[in-house]
Amino acid sequence: MSKAIEVVEKMADNAQAAIKYDKGAASGGLGSISIQGIGKSFATGKTTFRALENIDLEIGANEFVTIVGPSGCGKSTLLRIVAGLEEASEGDVGVDGDLVVGPGADRGMVFQGYTLFPWLTVRQNIEYGPKLKGISILERRAISNRYLRITRLESFANRFPKQLSGGMKQRVAIARALANGPKVLLMDEPFGALDAQTKLEMQEALLDVWEKEKTTVLFITHDIDEAIFLSQRIVVMGAGPGRILKEYPVTLPAERTSEVREHPEFLKLRRELTALLKHKEE
Ligand SMILES: Nc1ncnc2c1ncn2[C@@H]1O[C@H](COP(=O)(O)OP(=O)(O)O)[C@@H](O)[C@H]1O
Ligand SMILES: [Mg+2]
Repeated sequence: MSKAIEVVEKMADNAQAAIKYDKGAASGGLGSISIQGIGKSFATGKTTFRALENIDLEIGANEFVTIVGPSGCGKSTLLRIVAGLEEASEGDVGVDGDLVVGPGADRGMVFQGYTLFPWLTVRQNIEYGPKLKGISILERRAISNRYLRITRLESFANRFPKQLSGGMKQRVAIARALANGPKVLLMDEPFGALDAQTKLEMQEALLDVWEKEKTTVLFITHDIDEAIFLSQRIVVMGAGPGRILKEYPVTLPAERTSEVREHPEFLKLRRELTALLKHKEE
């Protein structure tokens, strides 16, 4: 089963998905995330593998936080716990004070793989979540129009995923996540499979969406430049067991144009993060 189907079906199963679509949800400036004492052990045969230990992280409403760290340090596991797709062994996650007990419409997910339904058009993909929630066709149209516009996909509404480039598919995935009115966007290396130029375009498009929608974003990448360009704060994780090593505020101008990439603060952060992560991979 594809990840998209898994997520959508779990959402439908979950009582939280019954919460009526609320236009204000995405624009209300809510969406604080509280990660408290999260630990995760996986049973692997006779032994248990400690994937996460003592993760504490507070993310404010409308904040953009990025997690970086070496492969296998538990980034995806942590995000899946916040999404409610994975159960923590210890600790709790809350969104605006509500305990996370499973997937919910308050949290939208975007993965690296293209998780669109291939048999649905771009518009139908975007309207899929609202349709599941029983939102009327007229309101669904208004929702898809809004997110087609925001992600600049208006002229591709009737195309099928296979007729789109990788960047466009990921824009549809973002539009589809936003169409559920989430307070929080959880993004796991969403641009990891894109070519360098498309990746830069997507980063700017995402910041644009983030400003317009006022969602909180928790973003995972192993691309240091991507982390600095996008975030207000960078959290560095290390492995063995997965834990938070350090946090860096990103004190770059709020307006992130390509010139920001030459900013002394950008270069300084890149040096520090590169050194820290290189050390950890040795
Ligand atoms: N379902 C699972 N069962 C056993 N081990 C797992 C499972 N999921 C993840 N792991 C292990 O937990 C560690 C962290 O995985 P993951 O969160 O995917 O890391 P990252 O996203 O940082 O690369 C890895 O060593 C991985 O093999
Ligand atoms: Mg991962």
